[in-house]
Amino acid sequence: MTTDNQATHAHFPGHLLDGKVAVITGVGAAETIGAVTAAVFVQEGAQVVCADISGAQKDTAVALGPAAAPFQVDITREEEVEAMFAHAVEVFGRVDILVNVAGNPGGRRGDEITVEEYQSLTSVHLLGTALTNKHAVRAMTPNGGGAIVNFSSAASFNTDKLISMAYAAAKSGVNSLTKSYAVHYGPQNIRVNAVAPGFTMSKKNHRVPAEALAMLEGKAALGRAGQPEEQAHVAAFLASDRASFVSGVVVPVDGGWTSRLA
Ligand SMILES: NC(=O)c1ccc[n+]([C@@H]2O[C@H](COP(=O)([O-])OP(=O)(O)OC[C@H]3O[C@@H](n4cnc5c(N)ncnc54)[C@H](O)[C@@H]3O)[C@@H](O)[C@H]2O)c1
Repeated sequence: MTTDNQATHAHFPGHLLDGKVAVITGVGAAETIGAVTAAVFVQEGAQVVCADISGAQKDTAVALGPAAAPFQVDITREEEVEAMFAHAVEVFGRVDILVNVAGNPGGRRGDEITVEEYQSLTSVHLLGTALTNKHAVRAMTPNGGGAIVNFSSAASFNTDKLISMAYAAAKSGVNSLTKSYAVHYGPQNIRVNAVAPGFTMSKKNHRVPAEALAMLEGKAALGRAGQPEEQAHVAAFLASDRASFVSGVVVPVDGGWTSRLA
């Protein structure tokens, strides 16, 4: 037990996902949220297809041992998404879970945004979510159901001058797709939920300058950044049978940031 307001870094190896087969996208290099989520899923007993566009999924999957298999995917390309689920069935026999973590950040302000940046953000977050969810539903239906967890953002609810408008809009769309897939495919026993991270210390955020870091940490009621494990454990719960009556919700995992008035 911790005595102050620190992330625990605790590991809870258990049996939450025993016997489940998961496809996880956005499994990049160590310390991305996707890589940490894949590790937590393996610790919890799942077999995992580790998918990413970067190539880093290979080393991440090898480090996780025989319960993990890498797959190279661009989630905006339907034939690759379809092949990813086919690969999961070929290697592990079935698909019970999709966790769609893959995402890309936006940089430009509203008066500077380019068509390329806008299209890239909406393509990865919106089209990528639709395509992965579509083929997850197709892969899960023959097994009698499954669970999908999409990665949204605290920026999907409200925004901040620091946050790209196009990114926030795309993540709001992820929330909408999450609810639509939940409503449309609930009758097939497929649950669909989303995790909405606040500022989290994934690999890319290790480079945030000290002043910006202090400001972002201060946004959370808990006064700190989240750790990738803290996102992964919520995703694991939502994907597990313990969340068997939870569908169509977007869960903020943000240390209380979105409870603030400003
Ligand atoms: N880190 C944060 O503070 C934070 C906050 C809110 C939301 N999120 C969301 O959580 C998710 C993970 O965040 P992260 O910090 O680990 O990000 P990250 O950028 O470190 O990792 C994202 C991964 O997605 C992969 N990817 C990008 N485009 C892809 C595509 N077209 N097809 C397949 N893979 C692709 C990248 O190669 C990378 O490995 C993202 O969806 C992000 O928007 C993160």
